[in-house]
Amino acid sequence: MTFPSIPAVRENGTGVPLVLLHAFPLSARMWDAQLELLPGPSGDEARVLTMDQRGFGAEALGDEAPSLDLVADDVVRLLDATGIDRAVIGGLSMGGYVAMAFTRRHPDRLAGLLLADTKATVDAEPARANRERIARTVLARDSVHLLAEEKIEEGLLGPAADPQLAARVRRMIAESTPQAVAWAQRAMADRPDSLDVLAAVTVPAAVVVGEFDAITPLAEARLMADALGDAQLTVIPSVGHLSSLEAPETFNAAVRGLLRRVGR
Ligand code: MLT
Repeated sequence: MTFPSIPAVRENGTGVPLVLLHAFPLSARMWDAQLELLPGPSGDEARVLTMDQRGFGAEALGDEAPSLDLVADDVVRLLDATGIDRAVIGGLSMGGYVAMAFTRRHPDRLAGLLLADTKATVDAEPARANRERIARTVLARDSVHLLAEEKIEEGLLGPAADPQLAARVRRMIAESTPQAVAWAQRAMADRPDSLDVLAAVTVPAAVVVGEFDAITPLAEARLMADALGDAQLTVIPSVGHLSSLEAPETFNAAVRGLLRRVGR
């Protein structure tokens, strides 16, 4: 396989193209409900595309130094391969960081922006140090054992999350490799502040956040919405960081609102 390769895509529907980018350390499967439901009963309300990010799910990691810019460029390769000129780019958490890198690097390919449970500010030093600790630990152990517990304790899910959903999230995390986890942690630690990038966005935007998101809380969502100027902010009650998984119907309603604004 030549690398970087074109990410494998799963897609459904016709209409406004929407690329959804997943959180750390999950995979594109976290978007199953969006892939199935967002195109609507007639299938023409959205063309939803999902991809695994480097090293996760079915994607190879490659040997380039960690950078979310590379993942943003992978998204462009996906658009080129699927014949899409401009798309709504949406991401949750790490996927949101990639969506902001995409916005910085490829603004001409952006039809709309969806930022869910993510933040535009850089990590404080303790958070960067913690990312390096996790990277070293998983590589040294050659295992992602305990990562799911650590992430769940950090607040991936709200206090009232369905135990079956928690089990599904644990399974997805357990499928990640130490190499991908370390690479992504280092790439996230290196990401720049994106508030200036958001201030320059002229396409419709939406910001979504779970009320109990402790990882990228409401204050961060407000900062992004304020920087964007013309963004709709949706706070989903009673859920945590993985709001699209915990409350797919409310999440999808917010995305539909954005797609309508883009389609006008
Ligand atoms: C995620 O959900 O993608 C991560 O928690 C993001 C992060 O570690 O900043």
